[in-house]
Amino acid sequence: MSSALTDLFPLPIVQAPMAGGVSVPQLAAAVSEAGGLGFLAAGYKTADGMYQEIKQLRGLTGRPFGVNLFMPQPEYADAAAVDVYAHQLAGEAAWYEIELGDPDSGRDDGYDAKLAVLLDNPVPVVSFHFGAPSSEVLQSLRRAGTFTLVTATTPDEALAVQRAGADAVIVQGIEAGGHQGTHRDNPETDGTGIGLLSLIAQVREAVSLPIVAAGGIMRGSQIAAALAAGASAAQLGTAFLATPESGANALHKQALTNPLFVRTELTRAFSGRPARGLVNRFLREHGPYAPAAYPEVHHLTSPLRKKAAASGDAQGMALWAGQGHRMARELPAGQLVEVLAAELDAAATALSALPKGGAGS
Ligand SMILES: Cc1cc2nc3c(=O)[nH]c(=O)nc-3n(C[C@H](O)[C@H](O)[C@H](O)COP(=O)(O)O)c2cc1C
Repeated sequence: MSSALTDLFPLPIVQAPMAGGVSVPQLAAAVSEAGGLGFLAAGYKTADGMYQEIKQLRGLTGRPFGVNLFMPQPEYADAAAVDVYAHQLAGEAAWYEIELGDPDSGRDDGYDAKLAVLLDNPVPVVSFHFGAPSSEVLQSLRRAGTFTLVTATTPDEALAVQRAGADAVIVQGIEAGGHQGTHRDNPETDGTGIGLLSLIAQVREAVSLPIVAAGGIMRGSQIAAALAAGASAAQLGTAFLATPESGANALHKQALTNPLFVRTELTRAFSGRPARGLVNRFLREHGPYAPAAYPEVHHLTSPLRKKAAASGDAQGMALWAGQGHRMARELPAGQLVEVLAAELDAAATALSALPKGGAGS
């Protein structure tokens, strides 16, 4: 299925933006050069840090790429709950010999300053996580020649994205690694997340926007399934996290296929918002009672996560990963795009050879 988005780049393969230093310019450039769409993650960076990465990426490729922004968060966290969590983490702070971070270190992620940079120096594609921007923002980006995408995790959120006036919607299934892009975190809906294939079909019937499918996709055959269900392209995070170009910590890359880490879980333990990671000691111990308080908990645990990484302790790091993590391949990113495209071709041929009219006909 063609859309203005897939006219920008030849293959229906998008490398997910991955904040925390994972989707560095080298990774995005390799993917865009291979015919996919590379993405930079502006989350947790300053506006200037984002701009420097854009300049670096422009020096590496002349092909289209995207930049991802986090939406500012409304103030609804319960300060007392954050306080209690800080007390519960006191033993961790003592163990790692650090002070916990200040939970009130900002909740807008420099959104306005980043938007100003992207309007002054337009990039081909901008995507948004954790909610839909205003129609005015989306219109000004369109006037600047930028294609806009917004993440949705339910058909209602996809409708909100369409109403706001985005050019396409990223449909993120519950299988996805990293943070769910839920528009408003609500503990009452915990456990109700929708699987990708079901979500694509539901969103396809609810909105007319082109769909980019994300969550658990590790092989070209799964991209074929997402396209057959109504998506225009697939966005892969965990698959690209394992590549040599990704800036992920080596322990994080190794953990994806280490049999010590048998499963993933959605947790608020590290950031206060549901995110999928490999189950390790920190997640197991603190996940059950971590409060819904993003980004307060993100700020609180930041020194812990940094110290754990610096000490080579994977049991204290946020090992974000999707459900397909064990299928990760350590291929260079450009080669991974080629392999995925070949698998997609093979799957499309197999699909077209299926008997028409159902099994047994
Ligand atoms: C390490 C990591 C960091 C992520 N950071 C972001 C981010 O900054 N912005 C965003 O929109 N999505 C982010 N995501 C989610 C991806 O966009 C995507 O939904 C997810 O990777 C798809 O699932 P998969 O990992 O199973 O492929 C992140 C995912 C991972 C694994």
